[in-house]
Amino acid sequence: MNILDIIAKKRDKQELTKEEIEFFINGYTNGTITDYQAAALIMAIYINGMNSRETTDMTMSMTNSGETLDLSSISNIVVDKHSTGGVGDKITIILVPIIASLGIPVAKMSGRGLGFTGGTIDKLESIPGYNASLELKEFVDNVKKIGISVIGQTMNLAPADKKIYALRDTISCVDSMPLIASSIMSKKIAAGANKLVLEVTCGNGAFMKNKEDAIKLANEMKEIGKLANKETICVLTNMNEPIGKTVGNTLEIIEAIDALKGNMSDDVETIITTVGAYIIKLSGNGNNIEENKLKIMENIKNGKAYNKFIEWISSQGGDISYVENIEKFEKAKYIMPVISKCDGYVSKLNALDVGKISVNLGAGRMKKEDGIDNSVGIVLNKKISEKVAVGDILAYVYANDEVKGNKAVEDLYNAYEFSKNEPEKQEHILGIV
Ligand code: URA
Repeated sequence: MNILDIIAKKRDKQELTKEEIEFFINGYTNGTITDYQAAALIMAIYINGMNSRETTDMTMSMTNSGETLDLSSISNIVVDKHSTGGVGDKITIILVPIIASLGIPVAKMSGRGLGFTGGTIDKLESIPGYNASLELKEFVDNVKKIGISVIGQTMNLAPADKKIYALRDTISCVDSMPLIASSIMSKKIAAGANKLVLEVTCGNGAFMKNKEDAIKLANEMKEIGKLANKETICVLTNMNEPIGKTVGNTLEIIEAIDALKGNMSDDVETIITTVGAYIIKLSGNGNNIEENKLKIMENIKNGKAYNKFIEWISSQGGDISYVENIEKFEKAKYIMPVISKCDGYVSKLNALDVGKISVNLGAGRMKKEDGIDNSVGIVLNKKISEKVAVGDILAYVYANDEVKGNKAVEDLYNAYEFSKNEPEKQEHILGIV
């Protein structure tokens, strides 16, 4: 078998066999297939697609490219969660300590920023000292001891995904259904949980731009989950505007801390309670979704979720004095207001534009080797359907470079659209698959 024939086959819109997919995944993981050959094949897959059988074979090859974790020593039911990515998506950071505070173990592997979307691990690392690179044994031990641990993707779990994910980001091949489904499902299967709740984001700030594609991706991942014996539920969330009030690593951590103290915007509350309610259900701790939502809000009110957050962050080396006194976080040098020139209502706030503006400020990576600036980002004062008047502050840009900051102010203003009449309220949850 040789990689040139495999690239040519997919270039010519033909179906790849299981053996050909395995040959590619193993060869790319062990370095016998080069980055440029892999880039050519990934681009061919991006353009010509894969059917369900090919996607499932790709997923399983990626899962088998490294170790798979056995979490049965933690509990016989372990639920994991993952998001297909978005702008301002700090849901995992708020939700996992809530779930752990309800006595449900959380052993979670999260990702870094990809394209215009942020990554949970980048956000957590903005807390000084937070170690997302625990050895697998320490990861499992932490879950046994305090019920929660969140790490980045280790080299040992689904290494093929780690390489392909980074490559896709540099060749504009992120938003592809078979590539997203195999990326997410390979690492979720390798990470050992037996139940999965997936947040499938949908809208201009997500990889799936419309509901139809989001449902297709959800069904594809459910099907793969079924074959791998992992019960999977997908919650479709609206990503036509950023989630919550902040975009940027430190800013989102501060918003998450505030949410765990009970102060959160409507969209954040709706998404954490819905996704969380299904996690509780799959874990076997309550079939009634509405009651599960109440359990979540109760553990925020009584402080148990916040206390679990402190326990989790300190167990992974994070400096809790920052969590307890958010003034300690390094602030951006320039905090620049974006001022409304219109009277009326916000009718659109393009999440994709906001994500790109945040990356341009330095909150995300242009290239995989780029560093990130934790203190920069955006605070949104006004979101869709809110009333505005001339002179109101719509948002603040947090920048460390004045020129980039001024450009971000201009671009962010253009990401807003206004109407004279009040627009319909945004649905935060678009469906359950
Ligand atoms: N999240 C992932 O883990 N992989 C993707 O391809 C997209 C989002």
